[in-house]
Order: sequence, then C-alpha cells, then structure tokens
Amino acid sequence: MKYKKLIEKMTLEEKASLMSGKDFWQTQDIKKHEIDSIFLADGPHGIRKQAAAADHLGLNPSNPATCFPTAATVANSWNEELGELIGEYLGEEAVNQKVNVVLGPGVNMKRDPLCGRNFEYFSEDPYLAGKMAAAYIRGIQSKGISACVKHFCANNQEERRMSIDTIVDERTLREIYLTAFEIAVKEGNTKAIMSSYNKLNGTYTNENMHLMDILRKEWMYEGCVITDWGGSNDRIAGLCAGNELEMPTTAGETNEEIIRAVQSGKIKEEVLDQCVDRLLDLIFTTGEVFQWPQKKFSVEEHHKAAGKAAEESIVLLKNEANILPLHNNDRVAVIGDFAKSARYQGAGSSVVNPTNLDNTVNCLDQSGINCIGFEPGFHRYGKKSKALADRACSLAEKADVVLLYLGLDEVTEVEGLDRQNMEIPQNQINLLNAIYEVNPNIIVILSCGSAIEMHWISKVKGLLHGYLGGQAGASAMLRILTGKVNPSGKLAETYPISYEDTPSYHYFPGREVSVEYRESLYIGYRYYDTSSIPVLFPFGYGLSYTTFEYSELQVDRDKVTFQLKNAGKVNGGEIVQLYVNCKSKDIFRPKKELKGFAKIFLNPGEVKTVTIPFDDKTFRYYNVKTNSWEIEAAEYEIMIGASCTDIRLTDTLILQGSTAPLPYDRQLLPSYYSGRISNISTDEFEKLLGHNVPDAYWDKKRPLGYNDTIAQCQYAKGKFARFAFHGINFAYWFLKKIGKRDTANLIMMSIYHMPFRGIARLTGGLVNMPMLDGVLTIANGHFFKGLHDILKERKKMIKAVKAMN
Ligand code: BGC
Repeated sequence: MKYKKLIEKMTLEEKASLMSGKDFWQTQDIKKHEIDSIFLADGPHGIRKQAAAADHLGLNPSNPATCFPTAATVANSWNEELGELIGEYLGEEAVNQKVNVVLGPGVNMKRDPLCGRNFEYFSEDPYLAGKMAAAYIRGIQSKGISACVKHFCANNQEERRMSIDTIVDERTLREIYLTAFEIAVKEGNTKAIMSSYNKLNGTYTNENMHLMDILRKEWMYEGCVITDWGGSNDRIAGLCAGNELEMPTTAGETNEEIIRAVQSGKIKEEVLDQCVDRLLDLIFTTGEVFQWPQKKFSVEEHHKAAGKAAEESIVLLKNEANILPLHNNDRVAVIGDFAKSARYQGAGSSVVNPTNLDNTVNCLDQSGINCIGFEPGFHRYGKKSKALADRACSLAEKADVVLLYLGLDEVTEVEGLDRQNMEIPQNQINLLNAIYEVNPNIIVILSCGSAIEMHWISKVKGLLHGYLGGQAGASAMLRILTGKVNPSGKLAETYPISYEDTPSYHYFPGREVSVEYRESLYIGYRYYDTSSIPVLFPFGYGLSYTTFEYSELQVDRDKVTFQLKNAGKVNGGEIVQLYVNCKSKDIFRPKKELKGFAKIFLNPGEVKTVTIPFDDKTFRYYNVKTNSWEIEAAEYEIMIGASCTDIRLTDTLILQGSTAPLPYDRQLLPSYYSGRISNISTDEFEKLLGHNVPDAYWDKKRPLGYNDTIAQCQYAKGKFARFAFHGINFAYWFLKKIGKRDTANLIMMSIYHMPFRGIARLTGGLVNMPMLDGVLTIANGHFFKGLHDILKERKKMIKAVKAMN
C-alpha cells in the first residue's frame, strides 16, 4: 500500500468516512490528516461544475465552460490526436474550475440506435470507441487531474437503467462490451472508472466480482471505482468487490454500515484499507496540481478549438451533381428552426453552460453566403404550422439553393429515456416535401446525436450531418458548406434503412426485469455486413470534396502498408480503415471487424505511405472453453477500406495461432454460425450463454423491496401505492399533452423507473434506510404502520441533528 503509514494512523470511522461523498460532488475531507476533499464534475464534452444547487439531471445551471462537440460527434473524426487535444482543453478548464475528476468519457456501445444517451457515446465499434476514449483520457490527465471512464459496463439503454439486468454471453461481453474499457484502462491509463447502474448477469456491476476481477486482476487496474450517482445497492458487497467511492453522499449512513461490517468481522479491515489506499492516491495525485500557479484559459481560443473539432467531425452523406460546396453566386434560402437556435449538445448530466454560442443565422454575414432570407419553417417540438411552412416555401421559391436545417430536439434525445422511434418529427418531413415541390435544390443539414431513418432522402441533393457540434458547430458547418473546409468525417455508426432492420430490434429494451443480448457479437455493421442486410449508410462512410486512391498494399506479420493519393483538386483528409476477416468457419464471427484506422491529410496530387500496425486485438477472439484470448490458426483476409463496405485493397495472411479447443458445437448454434440472429430462440440463446435465462418478468405477488421500481407500484398491495402509480402516469400523460415534454421526461427518469433504494441513495440523507422501510411498508399495504415508522425515524433524525448543533 502506498499510504500505509497514514492509513495506520486513521481510525476505522475516519477510513469509512472516505468511502462515500461529503455532498453531491465532493469527497470527504479529514483536516487532521491533511486529506482534502476532491471535486468531481461531469464533463464528457465540457465541464459542468455546479457552484450552487446540485443535480445529475441537467436541471440547475453550472459555471460557464466551453461546450465541445459530444462524443458521438467527435467519433466521426476518427482522429485520436483531436480527441487528445479536446481532452487537454477539458483538463485545462477543469483545473481552472478546481475540478479533480472529470466524469467522462462514456464508452458504452451503441447497441441500439434508440438508446437515449447515444449522443454521449462514441461508436458501435469497441475498438474505435476505446481508442477515442483513451485519447480523451490522456489529454485530460495530462493536466494532472483524473478522467473517469463510464459506465462500466453493459449500460446500453436508458430504459430502466437503474434496475435492468443485462444478460450477455461471456464472449460478447469481452469482445464487444468490455474492449473499449480495456483500451481506456490499458492505453488511456484512466485513474477512475464509474460503474454503471444496471446489473450484469444477475449482479449489480459495482458488486460483480467477475467484472471487478477482469478489471483488477486481468487488466491490472490500480485506480478507483466510483458508483454512478445513486447507483450503490449493497454497500458492503460493493466495497468487497473493490468499489472505493459511493456517490453522492448518504449523510454517513452507508459509512456506518461499513464500520459495523468491519466490527462484526463481516469484512476484513484490510479490504477497507486497500480501498482507502486507492482513494487516497486519487485524492493526493489529483490535488497536487492546485498547488501550482494557474493561468486563465482563453475563452476565445477554446471556442475556436471547439469549432475545429466540429469541422473535422461533420460528415458529408450525399452530394448529388456536386451541389456542394455552394457556388459563389448561389442565392441561398436558409430554412429551419435549428438555424436560428442551434441544437448543439445533449441533455441530462452532460449539459454544459456554454461560454459562447454560434448560430447559423448570426454567422451568415461572415460566411460569404449570399443569403436571401431566413424562415424557421416548423415548430421545433413537432407542432404543425401551415403558416410557418407556407412562408418557408415562398422564400425557397426565390432561391437557387435551399439550406434546410433539420434534426432532433433536446427533449427527444435524453438521459434516462430511450427514443420511441428513429424518425425526425413529421412536421419537418412535411416541410421538406412542400419545399421540394417549389425548389428541388435542397441541402439538408442535420443536427441529431444518433442515427435516424431517412425515408425522405431522395428529395435532397446534398446532405451534411453535423451531429451535436458544440458551441461553435454552426460556424464550422458554414465553413464546410462554402468549401473553406473540406468535410473529412465518417460515420462511427451504421444508419439502417429502417429501425426494423437493426439486430437488437426484437430484444431492445428487454422486458421488465432483464434485457437479453441475443444478437451476441452481431451489433451494428458486424450484423448488417455478415447477413448482407442493405443499409442507408454503412459504418465508416463519409464523402469528401476530393477523391482518394489506394494502392500497393503490403502485409507483413505486424503491420500493413499502402499508398494513399489525393487524386482531386482540393486538400482533404481521408479516414482509412483496416478490417480483418478470419476465413476459417470453425468459430462463428462477424464477416469483418475493425482493427485499425488512421486519418491522413493530403494536398492535391500528394501521395503518402500509410502504415497501420497490428496489435494484440487484431486477431484475438475470446475462447469460452479456455477462458482466455486465443488466436485461431487460420488464413485471415486483411482489408483496407474507405468504409466497411467500400474495401479498396485486400491481401491474406496465414497465422499459426494456438491449439486451443474449439469453444462451440456448431450444431447447437446454427443462427450464430449463419449470422441470422434476428429471431434467436430462448433455447439457442441459452446454449450460447451456458445457462438458463432468468425470468424476465416481475414477480407480481412478492412484496415490493428496495430494488423494485416505483413503476411496480401498479402491482402493490397498498391502495396508496397503486393510487400514486396512477397519479404519476396521469402527470406524465398530462404534461406531454400540454407540451411540457421536458418535465414529463423528468417524471420518467427520476420517478417512474427509479428503484425504491434510489430514494435513500439520492436524497443526501433526507430519507434514510429506516424511512425507506416505512415507505415500502406503506406500498405493501400497511399505511399507518409505515407512516408511523417514517415519522418516528424523522423525529430521531431531528433530535440527532439538534444534539450535534
Ligand atoms: C449519470 C452519470 C453522471 C452522474 C453525475 C448520472 O445520472 O449516469 O453519467 O456522471 O449522473 O451527474
């Protein structure tokens, strides 16, 4: 232990006091031992330090900070250097605001396009997500503080995120859902990890010994594990698994549990000491930086950097007859609410209070675009308006080209809730159709944090996707439109034609208790490509104003090399992608998997030699018989592509591999071997899992307990609880009806799907566990007894507070 001497001087009470927050954002300090509090703040795309009222739902404002494009956006740049640079800026601002731990980046997989928080995650591919995350972490931590990669793990939906049990087979867990974390740990050297809210195969992630063993024993992780806010279930089980810090505060209640557990011998004091040691390391190493003199960062410079990041992440998806870049004399109509009021970031815990905010309409003057007018064209939140559409069409009629700004609003893509479908609002589609009748020269500019359906695409000639471009995203988009900057982003996720085509369509978001990842390895392009399902835009796709030629592939034992030429007339950046296919069919696998990438910038006519090295992940697969990573002895196809379906160069390589036994019996897993996984039977899934799937429905007869959700009150014995349930439902319906969708969302996020235990874990001690027992007693049909217990406990609490004062 690094801090053995200090720990020896500490009492049991002092050690336990460090194991949960002092308040919503800070850890406990102990003046006597010169242990300071450290501050944790959200910040995957900008620092969200709340000076006053604290919350994790994006309700109360935070100190101004630069709002960079979100992870889903920057992933499209496929540029690790850019990720690292953004990390450095985030780190610098965090240090300026005295934040020790930046709660990000998020590396959960985009298993399903409807996950409400996809805007905050990088990709459907673990390799790309891991590399980008490691880059952010290196950048943040280069400033002396800590990143906190999240949410570990298998938290790939928002629906019932605090209670859902993710059922996933070991190989898929390793190859898809853990790989990005592994890269973040091994290459990013993250000092902190946030466990997720959900269960994994029956156990809450922060208590899951298997998961923690992978983390500590296999990856040799020496940093801290922090619960997601309010995500602690059984504090002692969490501590035993190596979960150092519970956040936010429980006003000492769970610290008492730790003290009792040590005193009764339930846990050894050494277990606590180890956790204290790791937490002290985080406290001391991230605190040092604040001793040094700090220089103020330049708000303007950071705003520009945010714009650069957005530029590199914008994806050109369609450019019929080279409608883009705009021609000098084009008379341009700008239409769409998003042009006036940019949709530039996500919602919930990652909301940033920007230092500055560009919007298209205000930036048009400097852009050089010959704009003949602006019309909002539609109501942002979906209400139909013929008058708005008519005015937009009259303007469009007079223009050579229409720039139509469409997208998703900030109450549709949110934390705590998944989207209901993949469409943009119908009023926007109606407007597009109407404009098409008067002027078919339409360029759509999209702002959405995740994939959408585009059944309207034939009506547009140009299509640019800016995702959520941060505070300077609008001006970056104008530079792409005018050709001052050549688009160089490529999609980090597949765009299916229809939601029904997605591999998890039948399995998302699961049933009441669990979600079964029956599609196994086949997420995103791994499925579409293997099963030849046509898509709208493949993974890795994006156009440029120039063209690139690939030639002279050479493959050797540890790398590929080839020539890349800019064959067009303007400077450009190309994202080159390395895919590998194992030709043996003895173990089922996706047809192609991404194993490397690079972003190369070239002047017109310039040629560069590109080298992509192989690494420990290039040929490995996880063998469930040997419980280890193996390389299959086989012939491998090595492919260099401009996207996952646009393969430009191929070669093969034969590897000796290992002599490990084959992990599966092919006869038992026919769908997995064929890649046709859209309707996997329970029987076949169980064969893959190696055990039965748990019951996916709530046991309606059982009394309600800590881990049951408020929504389960519908089955409660107590009339009062059933009445409350209907009340909540009514409030949700009513708020939506009157257009208060954001407040309605809050009801779903923070009440409906909240497990009862969350009431105690998230109220900072206002409601303690005995009071929660009282609440449950009421819900289970003993109103007066429950009320009596609550009031008794309340009195006790007030007395204790008075005694302390
Ligand atoms: C989110 C985390 C976030 C935390 C603190 C939680 O609800 O899931 O990502 O860091 O709140 O705001």
